[in-house]
Amino acid sequence: MAALVPVEPFDLAIFGATGDLALGKLLPSLFHRWCDGQIPANSRIIAVARDELDDAAFRQLVRKRYLEGYERDLDEDSTWHAFAERLVYVPLNATDRDSDWSLLKAAFGDSSRLRLFYLALPPSLYAPASENLAHHGLNSPGSRIVLEKPIGSNFHTAREINQRVGEVFGEDSIFRIDHYLGKESVQNLLILRFGNWLFEPIWNATGIDHVQITVAESVGAGKRAAYYDTAGALRDMVQNHLLQLMCLVAMEPPSDLEADTVRTEKLKVLQALRPIRADDISGKAVRARYASGAIKGEAVPGYEAELGQSSDTETFVAIKAEIDNWRWAGVPFYLRTGKRMSHRYSEIVIQFKPVPHDVVKADSGKIRPNRLIIRLQPDEAVRLMLMTKDPGPGGVRVRYVPLNLSYAETFEKNYPDAYERLLMAVIRGNLGLFMRRDEVEAAWRWTDQILQSWTDSQSPVLTYPAGTDGPAESALLLAKDNREWFDESRT
Ligand code: BG6
Repeated sequence: MAALVPVEPFDLAIFGATGDLALGKLLPSLFHRWCDGQIPANSRIIAVARDELDDAAFRQLVRKRYLEGYERDLDEDSTWHAFAERLVYVPLNATDRDSDWSLLKAAFGDSSRLRLFYLALPPSLYAPASENLAHHGLNSPGSRIVLEKPIGSNFHTAREINQRVGEVFGEDSIFRIDHYLGKESVQNLLILRFGNWLFEPIWNATGIDHVQITVAESVGAGKRAAYYDTAGALRDMVQNHLLQLMCLVAMEPPSDLEADTVRTEKLKVLQALRPIRADDISGKAVRARYASGAIKGEAVPGYEAELGQSSDTETFVAIKAEIDNWRWAGVPFYLRTGKRMSHRYSEIVIQFKPVPHDVVKADSGKIRPNRLIIRLQPDEAVRLMLMTKDPGPGGVRVRYVPLNLSYAETFEKNYPDAYERLLMAVIRGNLGLFMRRDEVEAAWRWTDQILQSWTDSQSPVLTYPAGTDGPAESALLLAKDNREWFDESRT
């Protein structure tokens, strides 16, 4: 692995520091970067939340949560103790202008130091918290703010948040997180497409039959059920992660990899998405919720039982998306995501067109179209399915086999995870891994239309047993087009 280059010293205030995101992801990520020597020792991490804690109690909390997720002996670990020393806790209600903001002011170093605010808060608090930062003069020149997805819950709330936060921080100081953009295998999409000549000439409606993007999870809504029930799979996953993946597959070649060059190309894809209206939603989008079932032999309750009440929220979505431009005319992008599916995996499948003429005899076997499978997680890999001759005597027999680039076998395994990379990218000011305001709003416009069409057409929320790949209607969505979801066990 390339050497890790330390970032400049910084002061980072994490709002919502006692919440799940901060304790489960952000603080462990910072600790890991600290262990690798990427964080200068004089940096400050200021934890902000409403709970009345002191530094010692907060450090204990961080330690406890870390040990729930990672095996490591922290007591004997001097690196941990040095890291914990850098954590200070400030009790503060970020939405209350009259709270004691002087404590936060005092916790920061001088204002010339790179200053970062990470709002690990519900999106409805982004605007008031930013305004309060400005009111108390904390948004010193050059300071940056990090907002977690989802930005709002629809186009209007997203626009309002963007507008109000934008009055305090310039667009180049706003880092909107979609953690999928921080994944190693997602970043590789750009290099796979634009670092190889091989694919680009046929990366269009002439060469590609269709694209499938699946983000399947085996976990349920779990502890996040209260939030999740207000969101559902479309808002929680499609509006951001799946659309971002689709953009990286579908965008035009950028002239360079500068943040705005890439973001402008992604935006064009979002703007070209064909709206799904109420009169054709039944043929283009399926929503469903998991009922009880079993995952890897273990019985699991249904979503409503987990939530403790009945619900209309979908935990599974499958959509046939169409991009109205020259490159993609007539090439569907099938998007699918769900919780409590049979297993956890994220994958992009590019299905190429069949060869124009079959040269082998029927008894030699079937020539099948090439397929590029980009496995994002787990076991990251890029597999190109090719036709080959089965070696040996006795005439021509053909076989469909993978050219297999497995990350685990090819590269050193130990690279930073998405949040580690994103946190370092914020400090470096690398906006390319974050969503621009117009991208977020364009994505909401398209998903809002789907939600509206479901409401207008009174489409039911179907059910699927936990541990399956969604309802039968999801398979029908492709079957109508004489296609099927890719299933590795069938290749
Ligand atoms: C989050 C969603 O953004 O992504 C979660 O809010 C989901 O519901 C998670 O579980 C999936 O991320 P990953 O990295 O585990 O695929």
